[in-house]
Amino acid sequence: MSHNILKGKKGIIFGALNEQSIAWKAAVKAVEEGAEIVLTNTAMAVRLGTIKELAQQCNAPLIEADATSVADLENLTDKAMEHFGGKFDFVLHAVGMSPNIRKGKPYTDVNYDFFFKTLDISALSFHKLLQTLYKKDAVNEGGSIVALTYIAGDRAMLGYGDMADAKAMLQSVTRNFGLIMGRERKVRVNTISQSPTATTAGSGIAGMSRMLEFTDKISPIGNADAEDCADYITMLFSDYTRKVTMQNLYNDGGFSAIFLSALKNKQDEHTAGKNQGSCRAQEFGKAGWRPEAHRGPALQGQADRSRAAHPASGRRQF
Ligand code: NAI
Repeated sequence: MSHNILKGKKGIIFGALNEQSIAWKAAVKAVEEGAEIVLTNTAMAVRLGTIKELAQQCNAPLIEADATSVADLENLTDKAMEHFGGKFDFVLHAVGMSPNIRKGKPYTDVNYDFFFKTLDISALSFHKLLQTLYKKDAVNEGGSIVALTYIAGDRAMLGYGDMADAKAMLQSVTRNFGLIMGRERKVRVNTISQSPTATTAGSGIAGMSRMLEFTDKISPIGNADAEDCADYITMLFSDYTRKVTMQNLYNDGGFSAIFLSALKNKQDEHTAGKNQGSCRAQEFGKAGWRPEAHRGPALQGQADRSRAAHPASGRRQF
């Protein structure tokens, strides 16, 4: 149901590759809520993905840009301003990629050329984008810029490789450029730290479906999916969050606030009033614990959809 909370607002959405993409859901939601948008992705993503369908559905121009190229970002900003007839109000940066993870290189044996690429695509691109928007004074006062991050950017985690360092840098750029954008332009800059989500990028991490299951069990209200993230992004684009800036905002069902918790399952629900505080964390630590044994139907569905959508997606990253 639409509440028209983005009525009259205009913005650019990066990173819609296919229907699973968080950016895809965000684009659809923004238009539903009354916004006009411009879509962008790399030439390769336009060729290999289905973003053209989204552009049609949203009645939005599609302007190719590699987010690591300042020239492309300048061209994109100019064309978007031309299309909108002036400044715009929001931007979503939903861009990430690690060649090391894609090629299965562990954190203890990274290729440093790849590492630079990871940082350039997944973090520096956000600085390049903000600097371009700043120099061109392209965003209206009260505007909102959002990038997507993951908890491995602020907590140690095995398996996320050099993307963890890229996300830490992305969050740092958000604070430092956010300070300037806020003081000088009254524009907000935030990151949303999203639950593991079944997308092309997400499905590339080794053990992704097991992680989805685990975090869904641990999070008090379960994982946030791509639609949940789109709702949060829409809220951050809207005037309802006009004083929220320079923040890393968790959209993860409470996962990030937990130190130790019980695994949720049917038995816990049954014993809840009788045995408050009974903690099954030992089970998590127990050798041989397998999330499969605790799989819930909702999560099984999300993991299965991910596998069905990307049967040969190889190792990518979220
Ligand atoms: P996705 O694979 O649908 O989106 C990633 C996008 O990045 C693709 O559209 C791709 O074409 C684009 N991209 C890659 N290199 C680019 C470049 N040089 N220039 C411009 N665009 C480029 O996957 P998803 O999950 O929707 O990813 C969006 C964002 O959400 C990423 O920043 C990701 O790290 C973040 N995120 C994803 C999570 C997940 O579990 N899927 C969890 C937390 C954050």
